[in-house]
Amino acid sequence: MIDTHSHIYLSEFDEDRAEVVERAKRVGLKKILLPNVDGETIEAMHQLEGQYKGFCHAMMGLHPTSVDHNYRAALDEVKKHLDTRPYIAVGEIGIDLYWDKTFRAEQMEAFEQQIIWAKELNLPIVIHCREAFAEVFEVVEKQMDDKLCGVFHSFTGNIEEARRILGYNNFMIGINGVVTFKNTHLREVVKEVPLNKLVLETDAPYLAPVPKRGRRNEPAYIEKVAETIALVHGKDIEDVKKQTTINAKQLFAV
Ligand code: NI
Repeated sequence: MIDTHSHIYLSEFDEDRAEVVERAKRVGLKKILLPNVDGETIEAMHQLEGQYKGFCHAMMGLHPTSVDHNYRAALDEVKKHLDTRPYIAVGEIGIDLYWDKTFRAEQMEAFEQQIIWAKELNLPIVIHCREAFAEVFEVVEKQMDDKLCGVFHSFTGNIEEARRILGYNNFMIGINGVVTFKNTHLREVVKEVPLNKLVLETDAPYLAPVPKRGRRNEPAYIEKVAETIALVHGKDIEDVKKQTTINAKQLFAV
């Protein structure tokens, strides 16, 4: 398996990061992909990637909740890094109107700019979308072409939103612990998404799957996500692991 979205470079893992990686390897994870958040997280992310070469892979991008008055300077920093060395993706980027709508226009502009850079660099985009499907679809569709590819990470939308994404040629849907939650509609939606369009993720340290819900999440818990997808699709868990790994390898070229 590949954990396509994990923030294990954050301080939540400072005490036991080596053990977290060890447990991840033990459940069969072959790679952990690291989405950036903002200027505060770049150094720790790079450091972790250097420590686990070939296992941890960094992305570069500005997270929508970090878009504020200084977003142009923050974007300049992202661009500087993108021009300095290779990354596996531009992420995480997108629009989040759940926490704050103040910078809606700036979030849309930052999102679009980073999509343009991703296309120039032939990189996939990793999209964070929270209460902002209308805005995200607007920007993505404006920039859509044969080259544009990516994943809607931590997807929790409805069936119409899933179908709209499936209508894009080169986009995957990222599923994490939310799919295991008791009262989620997500299982019904995931049922309608073909296995060749799904990738696994944890979004660690957030969104731990049942029965760890509410606690710190870690990559090793990804098994529960694969298990739940297998259950809704009526497939063997090994088939789910295999296909989602193929999908992730193809999308991120790792
Ligand atoms: Ni994230």
